[in-house]
Amino acid sequence: MDKERTKAFAEEVFRDMAGAMTAGLGFIGVKTGLFECMAGKGWMTSEEVALESNLQARYVEEWLKGMVSAGYLEFDPAPQTYRLPDEHAYLLASEGTDHFMGGLLSFVPVLLRAAPRVAVAFEQGGGVPFEEYGTDGVQALDMINRGQYEQRLLPTGWLKSLPDVVERLEAGGRALDVGCGAGSVVLTLARAFPRATVVGLDPDRESIKHAKAAAAAADMSERVRFVAQKTSDLEPGETFDFITVCDCIHDLADPIRTLEEIRALLESHGVLFVIEPKAADRLEDNRGAISTMYYGFSVLHCMTQSLANGGPGLGTCMGPARTEELMREAGFTAFETLDIRSSVLSFYAVRH
Ligand SMILES: C[S@@+](CC[C@H](N)C(=O)[O-])C[C@H]1O[C@@H](n2cnc3c(N)ncnc32)[C@H](O)[C@@H]1O
Repeated sequence: MDKERTKAFAEEVFRDMAGAMTAGLGFIGVKTGLFECMAGKGWMTSEEVALESNLQARYVEEWLKGMVSAGYLEFDPAPQTYRLPDEHAYLLASEGTDHFMGGLLSFVPVLLRAAPRVAVAFEQGGGVPFEEYGTDGVQALDMINRGQYEQRLLPTGWLKSLPDVVERLEAGGRALDVGCGAGSVVLTLARAFPRATVVGLDPDRESIKHAKAAAAAADMSERVRFVAQKTSDLEPGETFDFITVCDCIHDLADPIRTLEEIRALLESHGVLFVIEPKAADRLEDNRGAISTMYYGFSVLHCMTQSLANGGPGLGTCMGPARTEELMREAGFTAFETLDIRSSVLSFYAVRH
């Protein structure tokens, strides 16, 4: 045995434990508003942060120290002051933007809370159903994705590569978001295309509750329709010019059947727009922080909630080749990887 290798690996385990604890403290920073409270304020004493945030002083003090140790905050020892650098605030105190990373931190307790149950499923099979991840699970997914959808799923953004879709929706076409979650894709499309009819569908009642609340808060309840249904439940004959399936196909319990149903709902000229987590086809190419994060999401959430419903558990890192294979098995004949730059997402346009 190589002792040096063991020593180096022990350091790695400590680093990973530090990462997990940093994510926990980061979640608290987002949840309590501590990052928001420190953003743009410059140097602050612990007492000032506690006063400003209206939180318990001792908790705030220890959190500040932990976040300094992790490199999230800066510390000036002489005056004993703390600062959230602007560059960090840009990522941590920016909810609703396409650069907010606090949604990822908010997903951590949701995932780790499920870990003991996932471990049981390793022995007994089955999994943890989507709805058991709770309302904070729905909220965290929304926090992760909403800013990107709102700021990029636009004719001048991700849809630039689909001028035919833009033209149809501008003229008043029909769009459907399958697995709509908390509704941000539907609301974004409805805002971008005021003449289009936009429907959101998700079998998870909690998600649809959030989506309807978001529509009401945006005064858009009359403009959009959210249904707690599966694709098989839609009225026969209802068809769409544009169907989106965002961060959802790898989660499906019966992917081929659902994709066949989606194909039946898509007009012959229509486009299916697919967003999936960015991953390579081969494990040896899936290395580094983002892949490791995605495999964690997979075991603790995506694969597991599919297996809970008797699904294949495709997993978060399904990759483009498997995605294309599923589409072709479901009867689609044209599969295009869209040239949209992202370090975390892959984009596909699929046609009849
Ligand atoms: C990871 S979430 C993504 C939610 C949202 N599209 C987003 O990007 O934030 C996956 C969603 O797929 C939904 N889902 C699972 N099975 C489905 C099915 N058969 N039909 C439609 N949606 C489904 C889940 O309820 C969940 O809301």
